[in-house]
Amino acid sequence: MIEKIYCADVKPKMEGERVRLAGWVYRKREVGKKVFIVLRDSSGIIQTIFTKELSEEAYRRAKQVGIESSVVIEGRVKADPRAPTGVEVQADKIEIIQDVEFFPITKDASDEFLLDVRHLHLHSPKVASVMKVKATLMQAAREWLLQDGWYEVFPPILVTGAVEGGSTLFKLKYFEREAYLSQSAQLYLEAAIFGLEKVWSLTPSFRAEKSRTRRHLTEYWHLELEGAWMDLWDILKVEEELVSYMVQRTLELRKKEIETFRKDFTTLKNTEPPFPRISYDEAIDILQSKGINIEWGEDMGADEERVLTGEFDSPFFVYGYPKHIKAFYMKEDPEDPRKVLAADMLAPEGYGEIIGGSQREDDYNKLVQRILDEGMDPKNYEWYLDLRKYGSVPHSGFGLGLERLVAWVLNLDHIRWATLFPRTPSRLYP
Ligand code: 4AD
Repeated sequence: MIEKIYCADVKPKMEGERVRLAGWVYRKREVGKKVFIVLRDSSGIIQTIFTKELSEEAYRRAKQVGIESSVVIEGRVKADPRAPTGVEVQADKIEIIQDVEFFPITKDASDEFLLDVRHLHLHSPKVASVMKVKATLMQAAREWLLQDGWYEVFPPILVTGAVEGGSTLFKLKYFEREAYLSQSAQLYLEAAIFGLEKVWSLTPSFRAEKSRTRRHLTEYWHLELEGAWMDLWDILKVEEELVSYMVQRTLELRKKEIETFRKDFTTLKNTEPPFPRISYDEAIDILQSKGINIEWGEDMGADEERVLTGEFDSPFFVYGYPKHIKAFYMKEDPEDPRKVLAADMLAPEGYGEIIGGSQREDDYNKLVQRILDEGMDPKNYEWYLDLRKYGSVPHSGFGLGLERLVAWVLNLDHIRWATLFPRTPSRLYP
């Protein structure tokens, strides 16, 4: 490991100290007899300056080194209010680890090109900021889950049954049989509550969605919780407390990064529980009053959700969806069998659904009927149905799409920017 100080740790008060930096050439310019290199590393940037007086050899090398080359630079710290971070390094040594003649990404690169060379796009501090925010949201989630007593579990990805409908399943050959890539860990989490009661997992989930929208990926990171002895209203409390903590903590730790994406923090600050709750019926009324052509019983798509989010400046819940538009495992509402005890959490500013959750059907016969109604074979769900035969309890859970949360927090125009290497119907490379 190279001994170095991170760019962001070089401070004006270190005036005169000798430092060693390692990173990439971010910007370079020559002014008279000086070469300025702005060096970038994972922490941020620092300006370095080379002159013949400081070192002729270093000056000559700095003059010829290309943008995004990897370098190790040594020199003395000098406070300078004109430098981007108020401090610079007067360099007398530069070791070029790998010289780059021409970096393919230029200022006017199109979005498509940036995705084609995503492996190089990851050099960008802006992309790094997205990934830092994503990591911090999960760090916060872990903090909250730990203090609230949830056990992390590690469910399988190779599975034999659909959770969220057969149309978005990725099939694959599993030796002589057919298997699928998991759409959701839910059914396995439901099994895990019998030993652990409160469980969570973070797994990749796969959806063969042909829809090319700004909120769909074919592979995304899914944070799922399942709790025994909880009804729908209990799990909504868990959802809002978790999301509130994730967002507030990330605001605290990543303000600088978030600021590069959004100036207005209102909706992020408006995450103190409880979040507003409206029923599906109310949602339909609101939409109809806005002239949207939607009838009771129809599913809300991205467009309808966008209109609805205009009514709120915080995340909010829509609960009480019609049964026939929701998944088979959701519990029928005992007060209205046309509905299920399900709720989605929608993010404001047009983002829409970030969480889907529900109380689970715990009546064996009703569950079998729902599986049949969906045109599926209860035989494929035998183990899952067993969970209703051996010590069944009321239970509820939900799934949060991590990239959707990141997209809202950072006000991104497309979910693909919230992932390291996006997977969409047209993109499997790099
Ligand atoms: O609403 P969904 O389909 O619910 C489930 O999968 C449940 N089994 C979860 C559970 O209860 N354990 O998906 C949950 C969330 C959505 O609210 C959304 O945030 C995200 O997963 N999601 C997607 N994110 C990106 N691309 C896609 N194609 C997504 N599909 C769902």
